[in-house]
Amino acid sequence: MTQKIILTGDRPTGKLHLGHYVGSLLNRVKLQREYDTYIIIADVQALTTNFDRPENLKEDILNITLDYLAAGLDPNICTIFIQSHVPAIHELAMYLGLIVPVNVLRHNPTIKSEAAQHGFKDMPYGFLGYPVSQTADICAFKAHLVPVGEDQIPHIELTRKIVRRFNSLYAPVLVEPEALIGEVPRLTGLDGTAKMSKSLNNAIFLSDAPEAVKQRVRNAVTDPQRIRKTDIGHPDICSVYTYHQVFTKDQIQLIREECEGGKIGCVDCKLKLTASINSLLEPMRARRARLESRPDIIWDILNDGTAKAKEVTARTLEEVREAMKINYFQAR
Ligand code: TRP
Repeated sequence: MTQKIILTGDRPTGKLHLGHYVGSLLNRVKLQREYDTYIIIADVQALTTNFDRPENLKEDILNITLDYLAAGLDPNICTIFIQSHVPAIHELAMYLGLIVPVNVLRHNPTIKSEAAQHGFKDMPYGFLGYPVSQTADICAFKAHLVPVGEDQIPHIELTRKIVRRFNSLYAPVLVEPEALIGEVPRLTGLDGTAKMSKSLNNAIFLSDAPEAVKQRVRNAVTDPQRIRKTDIGHPDICSVYTYHQVFTKDQIQLIREECEGGKIGCVDCKLKLTASINSLLEPMRARRARLESRPDIIWDILNDGTAKAKEVTARTLEEVREAMKINYFQAR
């Protein structure tokens, strides 16, 4: 039986944090044995906003790969590759762009909020079109499943529409994928903000040292009405409790009871959370330590992965050209 296919990935724009982990990375690690898994490092997509700063990309690619391997993606069973070096993706993006109305891209909610956040004076064609390029990332592999964070849902919806349109116009060559959102679609910030993010400066990175985790958790916002340990706590409005629900699942009932009963103080409760997060990160630190000083190994992994990605996608493109009747040299 042939395995179903996963394609997903990230822009290399900095270190990955716990929000990435629970939103998508954990799903990838769990499913890599069950699915034929491809992880794209979307450097061209990163350039859609950072085209004037290409000098950081190489290091960012190295670091995100380290994060992947530390988090438990196994390069012996999944394929990690670099977007810019897979020509079939860019060829397919061009063809798919033929059938996507500009207005659909303009109204894409993720595009809108990213454009606003970035504050483009003049929105580049490449930025507006990156969801089409992302569709090509997915379709070039004929992926069935795309584990992503919830902000990516509009893009997967677009992918599905483009696939249906392509298949009905030409021939049923492309696969309509499904998004898979993590058990925790959005990890809030410990500072009480709606989301953990690098730009909000509230992130706990997978590469953080134990002391840095402790510091972040120590500053977390708790129930403001709770001053003394014996005060009755309200876990449902406490950011630390929200995190315990994710990172200390096995003791969650106890933690609620201790908080509501005024039996555990916020300081101790935070130490408990620090311990949970650090025990999650500990094996990642160990894997990272083994690889950190060996960029040559990382580049080998990426080189092999990219070679495999080229092969797989070249086959899809042959079918695509045939469907579009532009396979002139094969059909003389
Ligand atoms: N847009 C994704 C992000 O910003 C990255 C990405 C690029 C991606 N190509 C993809 C995700 C294909 C899933 C599938 O995180």
